[in-house]
Amino acid sequence: MRLAILASGTGSILSAILEKGIAVDLVVADRDCRAEKLAADAGVMSLRIERGSYGSDFDRDAYTDAVRESLANHKVDVIAMAGFGTILGSSFFDDFHHRVLNTHPALLPSFPGWHGVRDALAAGVKVSGCTVHIATPIVDAGPILAQAAVPVLAGDSEASLHQRIKVVERELYPETLAAFIRDLERVEVT
Ligand code: GAR
Repeated sequence: MRLAILASGTGSILSAILEKGIAVDLVVADRDCRAEKLAADAGVMSLRIERGSYGSDFDRDAYTDAVRESLANHKVDVIAMAGFGTILGSSFFDDFHHRVLNTHPALLPSFPGWHGVRDALAAGVKVSGCTVHIATPIVDAGPILAQAAVPVLAGDSEASLHQRIKVVERELYPETLAAFIRDLERVEVT
């Protein structure tokens, strides 16, 4: 199974995946980000597919096609999104049906979207966590594979809560991804 990681941020989830010993074949970034440096340090090929615009002129279909083409060129089988900041069009999910995983820093189906940590905090929940799920064209809505909970503490900020969530996410996502790949390999061999 050839695995690609899609990332935009600090890359702490990518680094947890690499530390777990999971073979990563390609990292795709949509912007300049630390994940690219982590990939280079680990000897993993990384590819920048620059998003360019963040405005209404962003051509999502063209961007999605560029990502699809690169993943096809690299013969990728499985994709793990790790804080990827661009929503891809449905053709991407058609190409990789049930082969795209995502991790979200809240207990889905509560608090989907880019501000899951902030929204959970604002709602006053006492427990939050992370959710690993199969990604579909509807953001943060695919079948749930695994969840881990953390307490929300008095005085938490968005940053402190997100840090606590990332501690469990760095365990749960690599574990779940490794099991997912193992299961796929078993199915394809039999
Ligand atoms: C992770 O907490 C991940 O759950 C979140 O971005 C962070 C990436 O961290 N993803 C989302 O919020 C997607 N909706 P990293 O850049 O340090 O790997």
